[in-house]
Amino acid sequence: MSNSRLCTKFLILLLVLLPMLGVAQAKQQGKLTGLHGDKTILPKSCRACHRGMNMRISGEEQTCLRCHGNSSERQQMKAAGYITQSADRDYRNIEAELRKPYNHPVLEISGVHQPRELLPEELVNAKRHAECGDCHEAHQLRKNAPYRGISKRGVGNFRADVTKEYELCYKCHADSANLPAASTDKREEFRPTNRSFHPIEAEGANSYVISLKSPYRARKEQPGDISTIGCSDCHGSDSNAGPKGPHGSIYRGLLVDNYEMESGRSENQRAYALCYRCHERSSILGNESFPYHAQHIQGNGTREFAGTSCFSCHDAHGSSANQFLIRFNADIVEANAAGDLQFKAVGVASRHGSCALSCHGVEHEPKSY
Ligand code: HEC
Ligand code: HEC
Ligand code: HEC
Ligand code: HEC
Ligand code: HEC
Ligand code: HEC
Ligand code: HEC
Repeated sequence: MSNSRLCTKFLILLLVLLPMLGVAQAKQQGKLTGLHGDKTILPKSCRACHRGMNMRISGEEQTCLRCHGNSSERQQMKAAGYITQSADRDYRNIEAELRKPYNHPVLEISGVHQPRELLPEELVNAKRHAECGDCHEAHQLRKNAPYRGISKRGVGNFRADVTKEYELCYKCHADSANLPAASTDKREEFRPTNRSFHPIEAEGANSYVISLKSPYRARKEQPGDISTIGCSDCHGSDSNAGPKGPHGSIYRGLLVDNYEMESGRSENQRAYALCYRCHERSSILGNESFPYHAQHIQGNGTREFAGTSCFSCHDAHGSSANQFLIRFNADIVEANAAGDLQFKAVGVASRHGSCALSCHGVEHEPKSY
């Protein structure tokens, strides 16, 4: 048999098999294989979510919040026998999180999510959305595997499951055609080949980061060391006792802690609490790495210069251009009189470099450290 005939046969086989895979997947969708299928927890099975004989429900929040919202609604679900009375479960009020000022727009947006839709979005003008069903597959999710069953866009009908948290986030915050104008592609920012990046997909570019607090370390050497982090180490509920996941927060940026991004605020533990979770405040203000950290962050005590935020110099995600996550805040930093705007590091860990820029009228043409 010639190669081309073999090839055609293979193609025909593929054309027959692919739709079958699709059907299998659709059947799989109806199968209740996860936590919600445990009849000792949800004795009425499908009816906990599918009312009457209607299988066509949307992935929107109302269905879920009957049990995952406030306790009085949940009490009604218990009384009606949808949840076992005795079950001593760890319920969280997701609705309360979603009502916080910084949130995923689950409650605000409806009618946009489509069953079995494929993300990342490919249409430029598609409306943005996030529903419970975009991040949780109700039939398949398990305890400690809350996005089990969520799949990534693939070739044809073949779809690989999301296994890492960042893959879930990239479905809407990376190469989506409908990213908001002010947003950036997160996959680009966290790319392990960047000059610097917070270590999400892989250990960081810098092998020794002096300010890191235990158990965080640039390289995993001892069993307890943590050298990679998740989006959720920075994005999520403001309350330590709150539910896991980026549902909502009182802090700007949907952050787990406060992070002052404006310039001209005085330094204190709370102002940069997010960073001080992992980076020792005394190391940063003690100038253990950048010799002018304290001078910039704390200012000179005058009203004219109270101090500036980490955000003026650092990107919290990553930088393809610079080491040390350097990315100047374009709102306050501009090119110097000679037209230069640049950070240059000398070597990898020399603690020497230079900055060419102008900030609040102070010229660096360039200034070296
Ligand atoms: C915990 C809630 C929950 C339970 C329990 C549940 N489902 Fe679903 N089901 C959903 C949601 C939500 C969707 C819509 C998903 C989407 O649009 O993203 C859905 C969609 C479906 C679909 C696809 C409908 C379509 O329009 O594509 C079928 C079929 C289905 N479920 C069958 C079942 C069967 C059969 C059971 C019981 C064995 C069951 N489900 C139990 C929540 C549930
Ligand atoms: C009839 C009540 C009920 C409904 C409706 C319901 N759930 Fe659940 N869900 C539960 C119970 C009970 C648990 C197990 C809680 C536990 O073990 O702490 C659970 C667990 C979960 C978990 C895993 C939590 C963990 O601890 O990891 C997620 C995520 C979840 N549900 C999402 C949803 C979504 C999304 C919907 C809507 C499509 C939904 N649920 C609808 C009752 C419900
Ligand atoms: C189904 C799509 C979708 C997924 C998946 C998703 N997001 Fe979002 N996210 C949105 C939308 C829509 C917004 C509203 C702003 C916008 O359009 O980007 C948003 C906003 C945000 C914001 C900004 C909130 C604010 O108030 O400034 C953060 C932070 C965020 N998401 C983090 C995450 C993280 C972390 C993950 C993964 C765990 C994730 N998102 C997964 C759709 C999604
Ligand atoms: C959950 C822990 C965690 C938080 C929160 C955190 N960092 Fe980091 N940071 C790390 C780890 C781990 C590294 C080591 C990465 C490496 O080895 O390159 C690091 C490295 C850095 C670096 C050096 C990167 C390089 O390539 O030299 C800078 C700068 C930095 N972080 C700034 C910040 C700022 C600013 C904040 C607050 C917005 C912050 N970090 C919050 C864990 C954290
Ligand atoms: C070290 C802390 C940290 C980590 C880890 C982190 N972020 Fe952020 N993120 C921030 C901060 C601080 C802001 C607000 C400042 C800004 O916009 O740069 C932010 C802003 C955002 C925004 C809103 C701005 C925009 O561009 O739309 C999104 C979305 C987001 N992050 C997604 C993610 C995703 C997805 C991950 C994981 C792949 C992640 N972040 C990991 C600290 C972090
Ligand atoms: C943008 C994505 C996204 C959306 C939208 C979303 N979740 Fe989550 N959810 C997550 C992630 C991520 C986690 C935590 C995963 C982890 O770290 O274990 C989580 C965790 C949970 C948990 C477990 C909390 C805990 O502490 O154990 C429940 C329950 C839950 N979500 C229910 C819901 C419900 C109900 C909705 C809609 C009203 C919803 N989620 C919308 C991403 C999302
Ligand atoms: C004026 C600009 C500027 C400001 C403001 C600034 N940094 Fe830096 N930072 C730098 C430079 C430049 C370096 C690189 C020093 C070197 O060459 O090693 C650096 C290095 C770092 C490092 C990596 C080395 C280490 O110390 O572990 C961390 C982490 C860091 N900064 C955190 C912060 C935090 C947190 C804040 C806010 C509280 C902050 N920086 C504010 C310019 C700044």
